[in-house]
Amino acid sequence: MTAARVILRDDGTPFAPDYGDVYHSADGALAQARAVFIEGCHMPQRWAHRRIFRVLEAGFGLGINTLATAAAWLADPARGERLHVFSMEKHPAGRADLERSHSAHPELAVLSRELIAQWPLPLPGLHRLWLADGAVLLTLCFGDIDKLLPSLEGPFDAFYLDGFAPARNPAMWSDRVFRACARLAAEGATLATWSAAGAIRDGLTAAGFTVERKPGFGRKRHRIEAQYRPPAWRVMAADPATAAPAAREVLIIGGGIAGAAVAQQFARRHWKSTLVDTASPLPGGASAIRAATLHPHLSPDDAVLSRLVRNGFLQAVAAWRMLAGAGHDPGARLDGLAEIAEDAAEEAAMARCISRCAPPAAYACFLDAAAMSARCGLQLSQGGHWYEQGGWIEPRALIAAQLEYAATRVISGREVTRIAHTGALWQAFDRDGQRIADAPVLVLANAADAARLCPGHYRLRPHPGLQTLIALQAPGEAVLPAVALTGAVQAVALDPHTLLIGSNYGGRPEPDADDVHCDPLERWSHLTGRPLPALSKQAISATRITTPDHLPLAGLLPDAAAALARATELRGAQARDLPRQPGLYGAFGYGARGLAWSVLAAELIACRANGEPLPLERELADAIDPARHLLQALRRGEVEPTG
Ligand SMILES: C[S@@+](CC[C@H](N)C(=O)[O-])C[C@H]1O[C@@H](n2cnc3c(N)ncnc32)[C@H](O)[C@@H]1O
Repeated sequence: MTAARVILRDDGTPFAPDYGDVYHSADGALAQARAVFIEGCHMPQRWAHRRIFRVLEAGFGLGINTLATAAAWLADPARGERLHVFSMEKHPAGRADLERSHSAHPELAVLSRELIAQWPLPLPGLHRLWLADGAVLLTLCFGDIDKLLPSLEGPFDAFYLDGFAPARNPAMWSDRVFRACARLAAEGATLATWSAAGAIRDGLTAAGFTVERKPGFGRKRHRIEAQYRPPAWRVMAADPATAAPAAREVLIIGGGIAGAAVAQQFARRHWKSTLVDTASPLPGGASAIRAATLHPHLSPDDAVLSRLVRNGFLQAVAAWRMLAGAGHDPGARLDGLAEIAEDAAEEAAMARCISRCAPPAAYACFLDAAAMSARCGLQLSQGGHWYEQGGWIEPRALIAAQLEYAATRVISGREVTRIAHTGALWQAFDRDGQRIADAPVLVLANAADAARLCPGHYRLRPHPGLQTLIALQAPGEAVLPAVALTGAVQAVALDPHTLLIGSNYGGRPEPDADDVHCDPLERWSHLTGRPLPALSKQAISATRITTPDHLPLAGLLPDAAAALARATELRGAQARDLPRQPGLYGAFGYGARGLAWSVLAAELIACRANGEPLPLERELADAIDPARHLLQALRRGEVEPTG
């Protein structure tokens, strides 16, 4: 992404030389935010007594409109549960520009500090920031408005159009933008902008807004206030925010990385959680491994997998920081992670990938063998990708921290063999038919077992993996990696006496059967040219559940019986049109990226259950939709229609 260039004019107004325009009126940024945007969208009346209120802004700039709106929301005793602001930005400003601009407004100081502390790297996609303890969620949408707007899922209640002047920045004022706003608008949504140009009024009117010209702010003669009135033919989808959840209780089956993250994201919304697992103590299954790594994924074309992992990686890092700040430190070691190339050819491809994607160095960069060896404190024969914010964590400690934070009621050592829906509640039963627990919302976070409890033609495959704990003869005799390694070898120094080496897929999309038998000590000597003086070895095996596309299943589960009854008609549908099980969600099929998927999937599910906008683009939500395998089966005629 190209960063913003911001210079201050003599009167102190921030100016963008690349657009030849100011970021806000010279008559005052905060005053303009209040008069043009907040009052122009008829706030606070519009948000009074609304549980969730959603604002979409075109042009985040220096964030004055967002902070002013958040401050007005927080100051209003009639405010609801949560304000969501989605703000688009093609050229993110730097922290210093934000600080300088916010320092003129001491009334925004607390929110500004929170914003700047979480200010993301300039990476394309959606970045969710939690402000004021979750009373305000800001989703920064980095990229071009033309691509971003079609990728969002509505509805929104208010729109701020705040591009640079239409003559200098026409992309922000196109008819496409106005039509996209109409698609995303809730019935009666308000829209405001400081410009009253005829083309804008005409474009908004043609898109379905009723437009009024009002006296302008400062030296502007006029501004626009508008309201969306859907045409008679438009069937408006039900607004998820209007249906308040009956009881804020979620039942989670599965106490691993997936389930514990679900508990955390629901708890951040003040939902109670109950978690059931066969294991005792927790965690069992694939989460019983000693260490798990978290790092980005890069591809030259920024494929869906890379975009999803980026979103998941950043949300996980932020959620773990939040846990630590709340006194439940999960002990994440995010001090960098090295992905080592298998061979010279892969090393060259990794270098090309970095020059093609040009990510910020703080996200990912290429290091040759010498530079990588220096970072890792080891003599390595190959370089690869260096992920500055990557690292590792002990799943057991993470899960404990998340469940403690969420004050989850944990029922361990009980196997759920059947679930049933009574209309209002999902119930979980054991083998003897005893009811274990119930709640209006149920999340299956129990890997392959989820498919047994709620069959949905999921294409899940078990893949055995192995971690080998190597106790060293004497600390100091072996050179341990200073950071976590992945790629050609997966290794984490748990402490000065213990090295953990994991089996990996060896650069292939899937492991060969004999991968798990491959001797980790040999792998290590091959890569570093030095044998490990091992005292003892202990193997920990775990079976991960993967999907053919290496993407997880996260979201509302399909109602396979209802879909099969309408099989012929649904063959041409999209996965999102398939019938669903009300209140029944899935979070499984995480494969080798459990940490990267955990918070992303949990946040998506918590948002759906609580009627809030999603933390990711809709094509990314579609890519992990648990109904996609059922749709494939319907399309290929692999299932017998019942209707
Ligand atoms: C007038 S400033 C916004 C000021 C901002 N609302 C505030 O409160 O500080 C306009 C912003 O639109 C952004 N922008 C320009 N063209 C864009 C595009 N095509 N897509 C997304 N953002 C764009 C600019 O980088 C700039 O930050």
